[in-house]
Amino acid sequence: MPWSGCCGVFLVLSVCPPVVCLLLMSSCPPGCCCLHPGSLVLCESLGLRSLPGSVPLTTSGLSMARNQLCNVDHLLRSFSGLQELSLSHNQLARFPRGLPPSLQTLQLQENRITYITSGALQHLGNLTHLDLEDNRIRAIQPAALWGLNRLQVLSLKGNQLTSLPAKLPPSLAYLDLSANCISALDLLSMSSLVNLQIFKINSNCLRSVPESAFDGLPRLRSVDLGNNLWVCECDILYLYRWLLIGRLKMATDLVCTEPFHLAHHLLLNLSVVAICPRILKPNEGNKPELTSLPSRLDKTLVEVLESSGDVVLE
Ligand SMILES: *[C@@H]1O[C@H](CO)[C@@H](O)[C@H](O)[C@H]1NC(C)=O
Ligand SMILES: *[C@@H]1O[C@H](CO)[C@@H](O)[C@H](O)[C@H]1NC(C)=O
Repeated sequence: MPWSGCCGVFLVLSVCPPVVCLLLMSSCPPGCCCLHPGSLVLCESLGLRSLPGSVPLTTSGLSMARNQLCNVDHLLRSFSGLQELSLSHNQLARFPRGLPPSLQTLQLQENRITYITSGALQHLGNLTHLDLEDNRIRAIQPAALWGLNRLQVLSLKGNQLTSLPAKLPPSLAYLDLSANCISALDLLSMSSLVNLQIFKINSNCLRSVPESAFDGLPRLRSVDLGNNLWVCECDILYLYRWLLIGRLKMATDLVCTEPFHLAHHLLLNLSVVAICPRILKPNEGNKPELTSLPSRLDKTLVEVLESSGDVVLE
């Protein structure tokens, strides 16, 4: 965590002898706290409405978290070595313009940003971490994030997105889209996420997952799909099968909201037949027979069906 050092800094300052503190604090903007003056500058919770004038241009890490900034457009442009910047917990109404291209970590959580335009991040090709959690983002223009070839960690948790951002950068390893109202995973957006390891899309408005949605994510090791609006009907069999082939630990908590008679059931507690009765044709007397396998029923699911003893394959 990029700012985990901060607590350490405060700890050092609060326990170190006053003389050392004085040394550490020298050449620091008034009220701010600096470690290695000129490299890490912390101006947090000071009620600031603008950037202090005296932040050294050589600063490589700057936190202005928990202030009352409304606009910092172009104010940081000349900080050509700035790598880590926190503007979290402020009142920014839009993505700041004119940030230095040297940035690697940018924290903008808990602001009031409503949309991301395609030009806003164009020049930030060195970003590896971008946190936009708890804003009011309703729209991200297609390809707004596409040029961020080094972006590994992206959080858009707690916004107002209704669809996956289009053209996410293939470098992403961690993507948090939880607590939005995304209603569909579109295959084109999913297909670029070849390096994704952790995917959080819990607490959204998903009703199903399209066929093959997770097939192009070879490195995926954790997915959180809980608290969505799962419709436990035939269309959910792709997800059901995908979970059954070894990913059970990732998502045992998927609760059906529909159809009515399966509401509140756990998806993985249900049999294939309960989920999708129409894949079976009643057969006189004994066990039902599988008539036609929908394309989504591949070998694994057939094996699941057979071993459950529910059906006899033709
Ligand atoms: C981006 O990162 C590379 C490699 O770390 C570095 O050489 C380059 O100077 C950085 N770009 C900027 C604008 O700081
Ligand atoms: C799921 O199945 C287990 C074991 O059969 C059972 O104990 C549990 O109550 C079921 N849970 C739901 C929500 O259906």
